Amino acid sequence: MKSLAGILMLLALFGCQISKGTLSDSSSISSEDIPLKELASARGIYIGTAVTPGPLFNNPEVAYSNILVREFNIIVAENDMKFENLEPSSNNFNFSTADKIVNLAIANGMKIRGHVLVWHQQSGWASSVNNPEALSNILSNHIFTVMRLFSNKVQYWDVVNEAIDDNLNNSATTFYPNLRKSFWWTNLGSNYIEYAFQLARAADPTAKLFYNDYSIEAYNNKAYYTFLLVSNLKAKGLIDGIGLQMHIDTNFNPYSNGFANNLKRFSDLGLEIHITEMDVRIPVPSSYENYTAQAKTYKDVLTVALANTNVKAIIFWGFTDKYSWVPQFFTGYGNALLFDKNYNKKKAYDAVWEVLK
Ligand code: XIL
Repeated sequence: MKSLAGILMLLALFGCQISKGTLSDSSSISSEDIPLKELASARGIYIGTAVTPGPLFNNPEVAYSNILVREFNIIVAENDMKFENLEPSSNNFNFSTADKIVNLAIANGMKIRGHVLVWHQQSGWASSVNNPEALSNILSNHIFTVMRLFSNKVQYWDVVNEAIDDNLNNSATTFYPNLRKSFWWTNLGSNYIEYAFQLARAADPTAKLFYNDYSIEAYNNKAYYTFLLVSNLKAKGLIDGIGLQMHIDTNFNPYSNGFANNLKRFSDLGLEIHITEMDVRIPVPSSYENYTAQAKTYKDVLTVALANTNVKAIIFWGFTDKYSWVPQFFTGYGNALLFDKNYNKKKAYDAVWEVLK
């Protein structure tokens, strides 16, 4: 026979289920009750974060893993699936950390974005190879080895990252003149992108293949040349989605910069859209006004983004200000994420929560 305590526990659990089920009763629910991922999955989208192995595996912090597992249903390795880490020397692969991240995601029912197969940075020894045939073999060996290993585990891959140049020739009518003159381009020519996508398709036909870049969120020229690039890949059946990194500050105004039209341009092509690396940096030390403006930017961006039904995932580039690339890469800025350095929810968290609700 069940004890009173057991019955009370069942009632408590049942009650908890009921409160989670009544999403429409907005007066009685708060961000204490319902994590982001539950709101996201009710809308049929994923909400996620980049992860870093330090606080997960090396010097474990309970708060880090608790929040990760509680709030998010898709993750991406901030660095551990980049070329230099997966293939530290020629044809010598190291999957130890990537495997841990993948296993953690699977154990917690999370999806995984693989980041990244082809990029001009963090490619280690490959970036000093000056031989087209050798580099072509390196590319195919890397893509096949990595994608086959993670087949059926990693659902989305950033196949190529940041291939459009920052110094644009704005009179160009094709994307070709505006490709970044990276070591991939120098050795393999403009078709290296298409080649990489062909390899990725063959390596894992079940994975969704993405092109990913920064500063292509507003309706600007870089977004236009990216659009031409992905249109070309889409016409050949080689691409499934576009990743908008979205490393922004509070000047980003989605109501005046053409964000919605830009999303529409990509969704009209039939591409799935992921916001892949969102953070909203503010000056440090940060004022009350900075945090308020930041929360508004998160709110506005997500509001506009989610109005486009092809936007299927929103991923932040980390979740705690304790672990963020921003201070190191944007001098004078920081505090760009949803939780502060002590793992407390910020206004930015509440803003995201409200939009998802
Ligand atoms: C960054 C990481 O956050 C840093 O830890 C690393 O030192 C450099 O790379 N665009 C990308 C990401 O596609 O891979 C970058 O991540 C941030 C910009």
